[in-house]
Amino acid sequence: MKVCTLFLFISHCLVSTQAAIKILTSQTFHRGIAEGRFDVIGDVRSAEEYAFEHIANVTHLELLHLAGQANEKATPEDLAGCEFCHIVLYSSDGNRAREALQILEQAGFKNLYNGLGVNQWALAGFPLVTRSDNVIPQCTVSARASARCEERYNANNPPSAPVPTARPPAPAPAPAPVRPPSPAFPPTVPVKKNVPQNPDKDALKLATATDISRGSLNRRRVRGDQE
Ligand SMILES: *[C@@H]1O[C@H](CO)[C@@H](O)[C@H](O)[C@H]1NC(C)=O
Repeated sequence: MKVCTLFLFISHCLVSTQAAIKILTSQTFHRGIAEGRFDVIGDVRSAEEYAFEHIANVTHLELLHLAGQANEKATPEDLAGCEFCHIVLYSSDGNRAREALQILEQAGFKNLYNGLGVNQWALAGFPLVTRSDNVIPQCTVSARASARCEERYNANNPPSAPVPTARPPAPAPAPAPVRPPSPAFPPTVPVKKNVPQNPDKDALKLATATDISRGSLNRRRVRGDQE
C-alpha cells in the first residue's frame, strides 16, 4: 500500500521521469517531507550557508558534492546503511545537490531525489529556519531502519527474468522415490495347521466353518477372520 502510494507520488510529481535521479519541484519536495516520504533530507551547502538558514529538521551533509576532492567534508560513507532509502538533497538552486546525488548514485545509492534549493523553496513561500536542528538519519544508526528500506526497494524492483543463455535451466525436480508396498498392518501371523493354539479362536473357526452353508454374511465373517 505504502509502496503503491509512493509510486503514484513519484510518477505524478516528477519534473523529469527519465533520469535515475528524480527532480522534484519545491511543492513536491515540501509535500514529500510533510507526508514522510524521505528517509534522508540532506542539505549539501556549506556550514555558513546552513547556519544562515535551512529547511527545518534536515541532515547537514556539508559539501557532499566535493566528496573525493581534497577539501571534502561529508562523503557517501556518512550515509552508509541508507543505500536503499529515499534520499532527497537540496542546495541553493539544485546544482550542488545534483552533483552530490551523482556521487551517491556512483556509490550505489538507489532512491535519489533532487529537491532543488533554498532559492526555489523560499520563492514557493515555504519557511526556513536558523536554529540548530541537525537530524541523524535513522538508516545510518538503525539496522532495522536500513533493512526496511531494502525490503521496500526489493518489493518495488523484482529481479529481472533470467536470460536463457546466461543461466542453465533449473533442474527438473527429482522423481518421488517409489515406495515398496507397506507391510500389512497389523502383521499377519501364520497359523500352524492342525495345532490348536487358542481354544477360543478354534471355537470361532469351528463355528464359522459350520456357518458357511448358511449364507454370505457368514462367509464374509470367515474371510475377515482369514485376512
Ligand atoms: C522539527 O522537529 C521537531 C522535533 O521533532 C518538531 O517538533 C517540529 O515540528 C519539526 N519541524 C518541522 C517543520 O517539521
